[in-house]
Amino acid sequence: MPTVLIIGASRGIGLALVQEYHAAGWRVLATARQAADLEKLSTIGATPLPLDVTDLNDCAAIGWRLDDEKIDVAILSAGVIGTRTEGLDTPGADEFNHVMQTNVLAAMRLLPIIAPIVAASNGRLAVISSMMGSLSMRNDASSWLYRASKAALNSVLLDVAHSFPEMVSIAMHPGWVRTEMGGAGATLSGEQSAAGIRATIAARTKQDNGTFYNYDGTQLTW
Ligand SMILES: NC(=O)c1ccc[n+]([C@@H]2O[C@H](COP(=O)([O-])OP(=O)(O)OC[C@H]3O[C@@H](n4cnc5c(N)ncnc54)[C@H](OP(=O)(O)O)[C@@H]3O)[C@@H](O)[C@H]2O)c1
Repeated sequence: MPTVLIIGASRGIGLALVQEYHAAGWRVLATARQAADLEKLSTIGATPLPLDVTDLNDCAAIGWRLDDEKIDVAILSAGVIGTRTEGLDTPGADEFNHVMQTNVLAAMRLLPIIAPIVAASNGRLAVISSMMGSLSMRNDASSWLYRASKAALNSVLLDVAHSFPEMVSIAMHPGWVRTEMGGAGATLSGEQSAAGIRATIAARTKQDNGTFYNYDGTQLTW
């Protein structure tokens, strides 16, 4: 039975991924930061792991918690959008730190721990980024701090891809999804996004290492 690790699985796309992989017969390791969410994940049939991605000790602890695991697929989904902006509103330092620490620093702490475990099984690693982080597809400046954080996450993913050529590391856009972040007017359900993400990750080969994909399997430009 293959094993998937999903980071940020309390709700939204992360939770939909837990349900998608579980229904497909995978063993699911899923992280959340609240006790009630860990209990919910356990009820679904996942192995719950406590993790606040902005907590240095939690990030270090995930290393020893995963020490004996063989992980075939790892997906980093935890993320925040922060305060939504339209123009060039300079964020305060606290807002900047919150978004950057959650979306970028967490990846720079967790991926060096997780990537070697995934590489040991020649597995696949995906970060849930966003088309909003693409530089080449940029056509407006809304929520520019979030955009900057996802552009930085894409950079981090590329460095992981270069460091672990024996496995496949990709960034993914999950579509516009009806979650707390995506809002009720979004075009996709969590189930549709998660099914597309699973299929897109499964279809990747070593040549795809260090690339950016939409949930529907279309390649995106950085
Ligand atoms: N929805 C969309 O349309 C859309 C589009 C493009 C990209 N994305 C990306 O997709 C990913 C998932 O988004 P979503 O739509 O599912 O958002 P969401 O419904 O707001 O869920 C966010 C998830 O991230 C977790 N999280 C946030 N900060 C965390 C922290 N410090 N430690 C641990 N977990 C933390 C949340 O956990 P708690 O419940 O504990 O807060 C929750 O599980 C994000 O990276 C987002 O940027 C979403």
